Amino acid sequence: MASTEHDDRALVFITPEAYADMDAWHATAAELRRDNPVARVEAEGWTPFWAVSRHADVFEVSRRNDLYWNTEYSAPGPDLTYQFLQAAGLELPRTLVHLHGDIHNKYREVTNDWFKPAAVKGLQPAIDAIADDYVALLAEKGGECDFAVDVAVPFTIRVIMSIFGVPPEDEAFMLKLTQGMFGAADPEYLGDFTDPLDLVRSTIDEFAAYFDELSADRRARPTNDLASVIANGRVDGEPLGSTESLWYYIIVATAGHDTTSYSMSGGLEQLLRHQDQLRLLQDDPSLIVNAAEEMIRWTSPVRSFFRWVQEDTVLGGQELAKGDVVLTSYPSANRDDAAFERPDEFDITRPDAKNLLSFGLGMHYCLGAQVARREVQTMVRKVLEQVDTIELAGEPQWTGAHFVSGLKHLPISYTLK
Ligand code: HEM
Repeated sequence: MASTEHDDRALVFITPEAYADMDAWHATAAELRRDNPVARVEAEGWTPFWAVSRHADVFEVSRRNDLYWNTEYSAPGPDLTYQFLQAAGLELPRTLVHLHGDIHNKYREVTNDWFKPAAVKGLQPAIDAIADDYVALLAEKGGECDFAVDVAVPFTIRVIMSIFGVPPEDEAFMLKLTQGMFGAADPEYLGDFTDPLDLVRSTIDEFAAYFDELSADRRARPTNDLASVIANGRVDGEPLGSTESLWYYIIVATAGHDTTSYSMSGGLEQLLRHQDQLRLLQDDPSLIVNAAEEMIRWTSPVRSFFRWVQEDTVLGGQELAKGDVVLTSYPSANRDDAAFERPDEFDITRPDAKNLLSFGLGMHYCLGAQVARREVQTMVRKVLEQVDTIELAGEPQWTGAHFVSGLKHLPISYTLK
């Protein structure tokens, strides 16, 4: 039923800790899909918004880029975050997900070809080689490890590093920086910082210093890596400025690694809980393409984005006014029984896995979707090729963060072939 009243249940979409218990989270999202699919949220310290939970409505908001726009505030967060950024003298973010219209298209154009399927296919040997290092590490670990920490996180960082063309020595530094940007809501990642905003501020400074140096090098000595494309990119015939280049590096570095590692760890967790499917995949490795799609549907690590309504309209039976804000919940859309048969069952053979909305849709459709798919496919395939048995060795743990989150610990035990 359409209602303009605040719905307390929909706080689940912006409450960091709620994402640390996904079973409870999904139960609440299912209720909202059923009886308040475009729910009003008036949370203290947040701009009021409408939480969009059904597949058809998230699809509509994502596709209708004329009606629903991205802005500098696209990443859902409390107003305080932006007030502090401004008070700290930092400008509001201007990465691809914060831009709209022509200006977005011009910046996206800079790297679009580099991310096309044929070009991404050329990355496979590098992805294979990096994956091999981590599969070898499984043997070194002697039968037990934390797959999320020991394999998925460093593997996905090294892939992003190889995409940029920077050396493996910097991977620990990159891990610290990206977790500073996205994991600041989780106390485990705060380190020496007691104030998450301090952490974000110093993180941005460190990113700036690192990437300025990288850009200067690639302008002097271009190669065929992504850093060279960004450093030598042009918009309206002019080179990208230092700040514009930095925003580009930040979106690829931050959007590209923990999203993918969360899908990999959360997908493997499901395989371990469904040993029949694990064996099916071991017996028929060609199932990996659909299996990876199902893992990305199931985990949906980007939790939501905000969009701004440009004209009075109706969405899912709810009237929206020009200027209203909507939140697109990808994990909820991905469990909608109107789009998926038995949505709450993990099934690597499901024929409708391709309906997933984890990568969004429309003009902001994930630029790195083909890279992410290859990474998940490659790592899971290689692990299953190596192991005879593999199972959970303890309780997995989730990151409590409302924007990008997933499994942060996945203890496993295994025997090798
Ligand atoms: C499973 C892994 C991933 C997931 C679930 C994911 C999800 C998303 C989502 C939901 C969006 C916004 C879509 C929209 O607003 O309609 C997005 C945008 C983006 N992603 Fe990904 N992503 C993943 C991996 C990657 C990788 C590996 C890269 C880079 C190598 C990447 C780079 C980007 C960029 C640059 C954008 C901004 C595109 C734009 O606004 O035009 N992502 N991603």
